Amino acid sequence: MRKSVLNKLNFLLNSRSLLCSNAFYSRQLSTKINRDHKIPDDNLTLKDFLVVGKNLPKQNIKYEGTDENEDILPPYLQNIDIDGQGRKVYFDVYGCQMNVNDIEIVWSILKSHNYKKTQELMEADVILIMTCSIRDSAETKIWNRLTHLTGMKRKRPKNQPLNIGILGCMAERLKETLIEKERQIDLIAGPDAYKDLPRLLSLSKNGYSTINVLLSLDETYADVMPVKFDKNAVSAFVSIMRGCDNMCSYCIVPFTRGKERSRPIDSIVKEIRTLHEEQGIKEVTLLGQNVNSYRDTSKGIKDCPTELVTGFKTVYKTKVGGLRFGELIEHVANISPELRIRFTSPHPKDFPKSLLEVINNYPNICKSLHIPAQSGSSSVLERMRRGYTREAYLELIRDVRKIIPNVSLSSDFISGFCGETEDDFQQTLSLINQVKYNVAFLFPYSMRAKTTAYRKFTDDVPNDIKLERLHRMVETFRENAQVLNEKFIGTKQLILIEDTSKRSEKEVYGRCDGNIKVIIPSSDKFSIGDYVAVEITSASSQVLKGFPLEKISLTDFYRQC
Ligand code: SAH
Ligand code: SF4
Ligand code: F3S
Repeated sequence: MRKSVLNKLNFLLNSRSLLCSNAFYSRQLSTKINRDHKIPDDNLTLKDFLVVGKNLPKQNIKYEGTDENEDILPPYLQNIDIDGQGRKVYFDVYGCQMNVNDIEIVWSILKSHNYKKTQELMEADVILIMTCSIRDSAETKIWNRLTHLTGMKRKRPKNQPLNIGILGCMAERLKETLIEKERQIDLIAGPDAYKDLPRLLSLSKNGYSTINVLLSLDETYADVMPVKFDKNAVSAFVSIMRGCDNMCSYCIVPFTRGKERSRPIDSIVKEIRTLHEEQGIKEVTLLGQNVNSYRDTSKGIKDCPTELVTGFKTVYKTKVGGLRFGELIEHVANISPELRIRFTSPHPKDFPKSLLEVINNYPNICKSLHIPAQSGSSSVLERMRRGYTREAYLELIRDVRKIIPNVSLSSDFISGFCGETEDDFQQTLSLINQVKYNVAFLFPYSMRAKTTAYRKFTDDVPNDIKLERLHRMVETFRENAQVLNEKFIGTKQLILIEDTSKRSEKEVYGRCDGNIKVIIPSSDKFSIGDYVAVEITSASSQVLKGFPLEKISLTDFYRQC
């Protein structure tokens, strides 16, 4: 019976989230489930869940900004002290770069509410886990970690309580079922609910299980300046858009991250200027689930039609208006010629020639493009709902190489998607052989509930075949990458020194324009954060080695080359 009650709550929360936008931000949905999880189950509505509690009178909730239910707020939502009072937070981060950036947004919000950060698990008052749901294996890893952390929580003395919070995509995907499965979890916050964390954490501190998994139509955290975890970092991620409307049939992201929305250009430029001018950041990576479909409509100016590349289509209605990615990246490139720019993850459909020309024209925009293909078979691509054929993808690659001659390429591929035959897979291998990528991210298919593939197709490629195909993809990628990387030998590359090599104190590393790791001997003539001209002396499929020629500015390097 309890399960059906929770399903009902799930449904109610989901229907709310569809309605919600940031304008309704104050319509907090905080589920208070009493700790022994006894939930009354007759004729329940969402309001019942909001007020269920041992000591609280049953009363109606008033959502701010609405006329719904005039009565007063329950005591735990009234005048709650959201100050962290110096409580120490330990952060654990899983998943993509968006999560790395999001945790810095979370930290910025908590820091301004008087929380402290700790790197010592044992002294933490709060543990927040930023999670990923992209594949089953990603979630398994997090469950294993949770087993360890909840065991630790159980052993804590009463006078040193610990709260555990789940943030991000797994929080959004599993919602309150997380608490159902692991009762030591105190807090669940989805990707658009981070501004609510001070309130949720205060409630958790007072013994409530709290959840906010509302997805927003316009939350971009544009007004939150992320606080860097690593003060000495020379590069930074900057989130420019959130969510995804593409609905690739295998992918959970549109369900965990919600609708696509772009952050206003002014706030992006302001953040990057601050990072570069005040925090010494030399390289920024513009981030988004679909970074090149960026569209800033905040000023309502300029009716820019979508320039879809021939052979590409979308599952959504053509969007119009606003400033596009090509214009944004030009604005960012103009902040300083000494600031290097990368971006990820783009979608192949949003690479119009005008964007490729902008990338080629600016020396400080790296000539390294991630163009995720996912498969080399047109019939698999069709089932994946990628919106292009093998031929259209190859045509795009031809254009890219024509306009940006020395471009280096990376891609994502999935092995063993529903219905993938050996012949389909051979086409993937032939695409990898034909295009030749410098970097590739290769995954075995993992079916995700809710997705189109889950509803329409059968996960019919056995696991051992998925893994065997993955192995063959890795081999094919590596053989090609080895040949490509060897072509760098004898060339001069500009690298930004990032850190000391993990293997040896006597070596440092950075990345060349093509985003390949380059290791060089350390020297007192340059340090972390400097651009150094390097001659490449050896290459493997993963890494280049070289010797330093001189410390140099980005502008001077490209003037010479
Ligand atoms: N928005 C980005 C990537 C998001 S996820 C893009 O479209 O490129 C990163 C990669 O994970 C995807 O490109 C895809 O290759 C892989 N992926 C996504 N869902 C997956 C699934 N269900 N099983 C295996 N790999 C998956
Ligand atoms: Fe997922 Fe496709 Fe969106 Fe990338 S573009 S996040 S793969 S739905
Ligand atoms: Fe994972 Fe969510 Fe990123 S599912 S890959 S953390 S957008």
